[in-house]
Amino acid sequence: MLYLDYAATTPPYDEVVDTVAEVMKRHFGNPSSLHRLGAEAETLVDKARQAIAHLLHVDKNEIVFTSGGTESNNLAIRGAVGRYKQRGSHIITTEIEHPSVYETFRQLESEGYRVTYLPVDASGQVKVDELEKKLDDDTVLVSVMYVNNEMGRIQPIAQIGQLLRRFPKALFHVDAVQAFGKLPVQPRELGIDLMSCSAHKFKGPKGIGFLYCRSGLELEPIVHGGGQEKGMRSGTENVPAIVGMAKAARLAMEQQPSFYKQLYEWRRMLINGIRDIPGLVITGSEQEEDMAPHIVHIMLPGMRSEVVVHALEQHDIYISTRSACSSGEQSPSRVLLAMGYDLEHASSGLRISYALEHTPQDAETFCRAFKQVTRELNLTAGPRVKRRYR
Ligand SMILES: Cc1ncc(COP(=O)(O)O)c(C=O)c1O
Repeated sequence: MLYLDYAATTPPYDEVVDTVAEVMKRHFGNPSSLHRLGAEAETLVDKARQAIAHLLHVDKNEIVFTSGGTESNNLAIRGAVGRYKQRGSHIITTEIEHPSVYETFRQLESEGYRVTYLPVDASGQVKVDELEKKLDDDTVLVSVMYVNNEMGRIQPIAQIGQLLRRFPKALFHVDAVQAFGKLPVQPRELGIDLMSCSAHKFKGPKGIGFLYCRSGLELEPIVHGGGQEKGMRSGTENVPAIVGMAKAARLAMEQQPSFYKQLYEWRRMLINGIRDIPGLVITGSEQEEDMAPHIVHIMLPGMRSEVVVHALEQHDIYISTRSACSSGEQSPSRVLLAMGYDLEHASSGLRISYALEHTPQDAETFCRAFKQVTRELNLTAGPRVKRRYR
């Protein structure tokens, strides 16, 4: 089996599985309980919070545990606009966000917020000067993802953070779910107020994540109850998953330097191995450093992506059409349409995502199978359809 869908989810580190099992067996107390078992569990949660804060160069009271990226995004956005609604009602995001951000903004729009959706250029990047033009005295929140989950374009987070220092009323939220463990994610250095992360994208457990929430900020809770996580996220803490996430975060950060170099090499091998397929388009920027190291996105106009995914499955190779959450849908990709591609291109996107364990032989295996599949499917790629640049 060749699993190349790491941007959808990753297999957990063995050490993380062992840690989770150990905590489930030995430390099953409720951190809110007053007795010794409760105190032990509370200590474990506290240590995990401290470990994650240390990796991000922040204080432990700035880390809020959640059930993952979706909840972190919802809490950051709804929590911030709810708490600071007296400051203004203009909120800004991009046309290429993950649905957990995009749909939250759409919902807020229907509730009366004035929403600006920033366009992207043909490489999938948001332009900082476009953002600057849209900021006004009424802007309370700007939410821009770090790495696009579908086609892997890195967004100019540091420059946006820099710009927003001049607009102290506008909070800066970053969905860093695809960036943690791959790119520098220290929120203070990047000028980020709120940052979402999810453990299953960096070989941690599923259903656990965290939100960095800058000290001094308050969020209106979206889940009400016993007041855990300083009242921002009620519910008994998922102690084993929290401890497992902290372990995965440390391992992922430790691997980051080799990750970078090795994965870009893998990216090059893959692209070079398939780029001569007639009609194939490699999505995103041609500059390697603009793209996330763990994602290659391609389009085969005229060929529906699901057909290719299922044909590769016959070879025991697993890739994706787009983000996992929406891959059941047959509609063209909103992200590719936003980049200016037509329907034919936007219905043919394929995402290949990988990690350090993949070898040069794996890249060869993929390229060989991919070429065979495209031949068998009798791909007669038409002339490249012109891209609409903005
Ligand atoms: C960029 C991005 N944001 C948010 C999410 C949602 O994270 P989770 O699966 O932990 O809810 C994902 C997952 O695909 C993602 O890629």
